[in-house]
Amino acid sequence: MKKYNWGILGCGKIAKKFASDLKLLSNANLYATASRSLQKAQDFATTFGFEKAYGGYEEMLKDTELDVVYIATPHTFHAEHSLLSINHGKAVLCEKAFAINEKEVIQMITASNDHKIFLMEAFWTRFIPSFQKVLEIIKTNELGDLKIIQSDFMFFAPFNTESRLYNLDLGGGSLLDIGIYPVFTALMALGVPDEIAAKAKLSKTGSDEYLEMVFSYTNGAKAYLKSGFTCDSFNETIFHFENGVIKISRELNAPITIKKNKEVNELIVDDGVGFGYQFEANHVMDCLDKGLTESPILPHTFSLQLMQILDKVRSKIGVVYPNHD
Ligand SMILES: NC(=O)c1ccc[n+]([C@@H]2O[C@H](COP(=O)([O-])OP(=O)(O)OC[C@H]3O[C@@H](n4cnc5c(N)ncnc54)[C@H](OP(=O)(O)O)[C@@H]3O)[C@@H](O)[C@H]2O)c1
Repeated sequence: MKKYNWGILGCGKIAKKFASDLKLLSNANLYATASRSLQKAQDFATTFGFEKAYGGYEEMLKDTELDVVYIATPHTFHAEHSLLSINHGKAVLCEKAFAINEKEVIQMITASNDHKIFLMEAFWTRFIPSFQKVLEIIKTNELGDLKIIQSDFMFFAPFNTESRLYNLDLGGGSLLDIGIYPVFTALMALGVPDEIAAKAKLSKTGSDEYLEMVFSYTNGAKAYLKSGFTCDSFNETIFHFENGVIKISRELNAPITIKKNKEVNELIVDDGVGFGYQFEANHVMDCLDKGLTESPILPHTFSLQLMQILDKVRSKIGVVYPNHD
C-alpha cells in the first residue's frame, strides 16, 4: 500500500479538524504544514505530528517528497493556491467554496487537465455515509419522485468587519461559506435548476448575512434553501417524496429520519469516529492509487456547475467580491 505525504496549506480552524482526521488513515503520512508564519506552522506540526513545517506556502510546495496538498485558506485564495500547487506538481484537495467564481474554477480545471495533476473540491459531505445513504434511497425511487427539498444552514455570527464571514476581500457572506451546502444538496438530488430566485439581506460590508433561494425545475420539483449568520437553526434538510419524507441534520452522526407509508424510522449509519473529513481524504488517495486526475464521485464538472449556480445567486443578490469579478 502506497503511503501519501500530505501537506496542509494554511493552518486555520478547519485545517485542524482535517489533520486530526488524517491521522485515522493508515496510508496518509502527516508530512508537512505551511503557514504565513513559521511559528504557527511549527506549532500545528507539533500538535498533530507532522514531520516538517514551513513558514511559506510555496516553500512547502517545492518539497519534492510532498505528494498531496490540502488547501484550507479563505475562498478568495483557493484558485491562486490550487494553481500554485498544481504548477509544483502536487495533487490538490481544495476546500469549498472551490474558488470565488466560474472563471477561476475553469482556470483550476484547465491547469489540472494540462498538467495531469489530481484536483478535487473538499466537499466532505459528499463522502459521509449518511449522505451516501440518502442518495442511495433517492436513486432507488422507493419513496417515489422527489418533489421538494427544504434545506438551511445558519448560525449566529456577530457582525465583524475583519471576520472571514463578513470581509468581502476574503469571500465573506453566507453564500460561499454555508449557503453552498444547501445549494450542493439541491444540485446533488435534483440537478441543475431551471430557474433560480434569490433574496438577501446584506451586511454593512455588502456581504450577504441572510439569504433565501428558491430553485425550480421543469419537472415541477422545488428547492427552498436558506443560509445566514443572523440566527441559529437546527440545520436540517428535508426531502419530500410522493410517498415519504427523509430528514437529515447537519450534526455528524445524527440519525436519518425516514417516513414511509406513515411509518417513521430512524437510521444511524455514521460510525461516530472523527469529524467526517477522513472519507474525502481516503477517496483522494484511492484516486491517486488509480492515477486519476479527477474524482469519479465529485468530478470537475460538478464543481463547475455548483459555482455557476453560486454565481447566478450572487448576481441576483448583488454581492461583488473586489478584484475577483
Ligand atoms: N469543509 C468544512 O467543513 C469547512 C468548515 C469550515 C471552513 N471551511 C472552508 O475552509 C476555508 C478556511 O476556513 P477556516 O474557517 O479554517 O478559516 P480560518 O480559520 O480563518 O483559516 C484560514 C487560514 O488561511 C490562511 N490565510 C492565508 N491568507 C489569509 C488572509 N489574508 N486572511 C486570513 N487567513 C489567511 C491562514 O493560515 P496561515 O496563517 O497559517 O497562513 C488562516 O489560518 C474556507 O474556504 C472555508 O469555506 C470548510
